[in-house]
Amino acid sequence: MDARELKSMAAAAALAYVEDGMRLGIGTGSTAEAFVHLLAEKVADGLRIEGVPTSERTARLCVELGVPLRSLDELPELDLVIDGADEVDPDLNLIKGGGGALLREKIVAAAAARMLVIVDESKLVDTLGAFPLPIEVNPFGLVATRHSVEQKAAHLGLTGDLVLRQSNSETFTTDGGHYILDASFGRIPDAEALSNALNAIPGVVEHGLFIHMASMAIAAGPTGARMLRANI
Ligand code: 5RP
Repeated sequence: MDARELKSMAAAAALAYVEDGMRLGIGTGSTAEAFVHLLAEKVADGLRIEGVPTSERTARLCVELGVPLRSLDELPELDLVIDGADEVDPDLNLIKGGGGALLREKIVAAAAARMLVIVDESKLVDTLGAFPLPIEVNPFGLVATRHSVEQKAAHLGLTGDLVLRQSNSETFTTDGGHYILDASFGRIPDAEALSNALNAIPGVVEHGLFIHMASMAIAAGPTGARMLRANI
């Protein structure tokens, strides 16, 4: 089975957690998109949900497929958010933001009673950090913010390239109009300490460490999809 099939398997398993009448956060990325396709079939069959998308990209797909959408301001409390991830550790701490939607993803996850992560099992890691950590920054003061990130990381024993994300030969801009620095720190032994340190930098809008946010994860592998639960 290839990664695309495993992502579809995880997405299909997640459907079992969607109940009629739910207020549902809908994630971003290829796994989340596989979920949207399956969700749209259920909606066409009569399932009633109200979805809050985590990106313009997901919103466009939902509209195209007929999944009913509301804004987070209309539905500020959600029952469940279902989203992908770039890495998942044994405590279900995550690195997210490979698709650049980490800010809205984190705002929506914080508004949801539960977060269900859907991944192929290649995303499961013992320690976060092999995947470059996306750090969303305000374009104003980019160089100063970058220095602060390097300094705070160095205090925690972390070094590595910080690459300003590009797309089609231009600086990638998020839905919120910000830039992303992808930080190749390697292994991050204390992700919570790094999260707190990054949150203290004024030019950092948000970062892709999701600490104690996911309550469940579905990881799909060649032998099937398994449910992982966090103690939060
Ligand atoms: C987008 C994300 C995605 O959930 C993450 O990058 C995983 O993507 P994919 O499902 O395509 O592997 O965080 O910002």
